[in-house]
Amino acid sequence: MLIYIDSANIEEISKYQSYGFIDGVTTNPSLIAKAGIKPKNLKNHLSKICEIVKGLVSIEVYATNYEPMLQEAIEYSMIAKNIVIKLPCTEGGLRACKTLSGKNIKTNITLVFSPLQAMMAAKMGATIVSPFIGRVEDALFDGIELITQCREIFDNYDFETKILSASFRSNKQIAQIARIGSDIATVSPELLDTFIKHPFTDIGLEKFLKDAKIH
Ligand code: G3P
Repeated sequence: MLIYIDSANIEEISKYQSYGFIDGVTTNPSLIAKAGIKPKNLKNHLSKICEIVKGLVSIEVYATNYEPMLQEAIEYSMIAKNIVIKLPCTEGGLRACKTLSGKNIKTNITLVFSPLQAMMAAKMGATIVSPFIGRVEDALFDGIELITQCREIFDNYDFETKILSASFRSNKQIAQIARIGSDIATVSPELLDTFIKHPFTDIGLEKFLKDAKIH
């Protein structure tokens, strides 16, 4: 399973890239704002991210109607070869997805909360579809089951669209979607930190080193 970092912060992205932990980047308007990026600096900022990470880098359009979405998408797509245009799962977003797919521009349909939304994104030729597990579970529905259903549907019809599970609340959820066969997980830096840690690893290592000193 590919691991993407869900961040627009250059320091965070550089850190995990240097560890060799990440295969790509996802951003969204909230993360861009959190990283303090001003609109006039956005393209330059994205260009830097695309140089740091060789994998796919998603940027979400701010426009909400078909024509302005397309215009914005085409501008972003010229930044680098690894740019992916994130579009919301709306009528305008799906129409823009189909048009951009026809131009060989990579797309990521985001804010997906149902298997039928995922299926429509795949039918429109999306490169990636992003179901939001955490927000589904915040509303007390089953986010893991959403990924199971997306996987089944995509396998039934040989859709090439990649399932990118997003919006995690725990690393247990990430292990669950990896078992189901999500193609990608996008993970916050905070959760990435918990991936390789286990208290028994620390305790075991401490004992090994203690024993080594004895003998
Ligand atoms: O990639 C989507 C993600 O950023 C949304 O996460 O925590 O705002 O639901 P969250």
